Amino acid sequence: MPGTVGFMRRIAVVPGSFDPVTLGHLDVIGRAAKIFDEVHVLVVHNPEKSPLLPVAQRAALLERSIADAALDGEIVVASWSVGLLVDYCTDVGASVLVKGMRSQVDIAYETPMAVVNRDLAGVETVFLLPDPTKSHVSSSLVRQVAALGGDVTPYVPRAVAEFMKHV
Ligand code: PNS
Repeated sequence: MPGTVGFMRRIAVVPGSFDPVTLGHLDVIGRAAKIFDEVHVLVVHNPEKSPLLPVAQRAALLERSIADAALDGEIVVASWSVGLLVDYCTDVGASVLVKGMRSQVDIAYETPMAVVNRDLAGVETVFLLPDPTKSHVSSSLVRQVAALGGDVTPYVPRAVAEFMKHV
């Protein structure tokens, strides 16, 4: 508008199952929070997966881990179980989805979803590279190591490592 200085808040959504949150996730969330004015970390219920932890528990562990890591920036944790991911983006005014890109496998998996999300609602997807020391970490690996009695502390925030001892 003439005569006004416009400022648009850039809101991004970092979606995932976070079952549980890993150090790789935290790395990507921290990077996103440095780029965008507001980041919504969204725990998505994926009906195609049988989760280890309920959505509310995953969100609580995320909140605790983000607080413990003292990440810079404005970060909100939320959850979403009904409807399209881009519906959440529209509801909160987010124009960008952020995904961590660990390998070629992630590119192959994420690219079609990124195109469909753009077609559906004009929401763009930004891929961020995690620190290479974390690019082998996944929630499924953590669940497997924990289930077999192994130590998951190198892969997850402290609060998650503590929690997983009792799962
Ligand atoms: O951590 P995950 O399990 O890899 O996360 C996958 C997730 C939740 C990001 C993915 O399943 C997803 O984007 N779901 C949204 C469902 C949706 O809106 N689908 C239609 C367009 S792709």
